[in-house]
Amino acid sequence: MIISTKKTKVLELPVLGLGTYRIGGDHERDLHNDDDGQIQSIRKALNAGIKHIDTAESYAAGHAEMLIGKAIADFDRKDLFITTKVSRRHHHYKDVLESAQASLARLGIPYLDLYLLHAPHPEIPFRETFKAMNELVEKGTVRFIGVSNFTAVQLEQAKQYSQYPITCNQIHYSLSARDYERDGTLEYCRANGILVVAYRAMGDEGTPAVGWSLLEEMAKKYRKTAKQIALRWVIQQPNVVGLAKMIQPQHLQENLDALTWELASEDMERLTDDFPIGVTINR
Ligand SMILES: NC(=O)c1ccc[n+]([C@@H]2O[C@H](COP(=O)([O-])OP(=O)(O)OC[C@H]3O[C@@H](n4cnc5c(N)ncnc54)[C@H](OP(=O)(O)O)[C@@H]3O)[C@@H](O)[C@H]2O)c1
Repeated sequence: MIISTKKTKVLELPVLGLGTYRIGGDHERDLHNDDDGQIQSIRKALNAGIKHIDTAESYAAGHAEMLIGKAIADFDRKDLFITTKVSRRHHHYKDVLESAQASLARLGIPYLDLYLLHAPHPEIPFRETFKAMNELVEKGTVRFIGVSNFTAVQLEQAKQYSQYPITCNQIHYSLSARDYERDGTLEYCRANGILVVAYRAMGDEGTPAVGWSLLEEMAKKYRKTAKQIALRWVIQQPNVVGLAKMIQPQHLQENLDALTWELASEDMERLTDDFPIGVTINR
């Protein structure tokens, strides 16, 4: 399957990428994890048309990157788009450079497509962090740089120190998580050519949603699942692409299917206006 992309002046990303948080363990490596099964799942996703893999040095303390490295070893590097993130405790100049090299070694690749600051550090100055990020681009270690969990205000501050475009902002954004919509970050990104990459795009897991009846109504109308409706709502927005962890084959299939049809504009509007913000989507 060919997955469509969204473009800014500088960056082009598939509308759906593979998330890898909790692959190989949570914050630490899980020694009982089904590594081989997860490697196979990543390969299955790539064979099904997924090109963008999102990871981070912190996921399973580097073990997620190791598993991705094994999964992609037989694929043509040029056909893949690999994003990883430097944890905020590593935002000092030397640490950023070391983290990037360590990620490359774990992933077994010569360069990163996209390198993100995982979250802003309240005390380490952007000037210092971006000195390293700029150098990584200059040396060809990374093709593009970006950030994650940044507000419009933080983006505006950071860009003063970046010699290269801050190409994307990876944020928690879904029908039920709309903080970045309310605080103007989404609009700021659109206006400034910064692609929004939505994580947990299908909503949080947890207790049943108050908005369930609206999702259920939409799911019935489109003959889709509630998660598919929720994912569709995110990726149908201008300047927004999504990520999903989808290790189980049925989740991969369901999420890929969500790329093949559209919500009508009046349903997009209803979901935007009527879905109760701050509740969880559970099915
Ligand atoms: N920048 C950040 O601070 C940040 C924070 C959180 C996440 N992220 C990134 O964003 C990615 C996505 O976020 P996430 O993993 O937290 O949430 P997610 O993509 O919503 O995945 C959460 C769970 O939903 C399941 N799932 C996937 N598709 C489904 C479907 N169609 N129906 C029902 N369940 C489905 C997955 O199961 P299976 O995997 O078992 O199939 C997974 O366990 C992460 O993996 C990570 O790469 C970034």
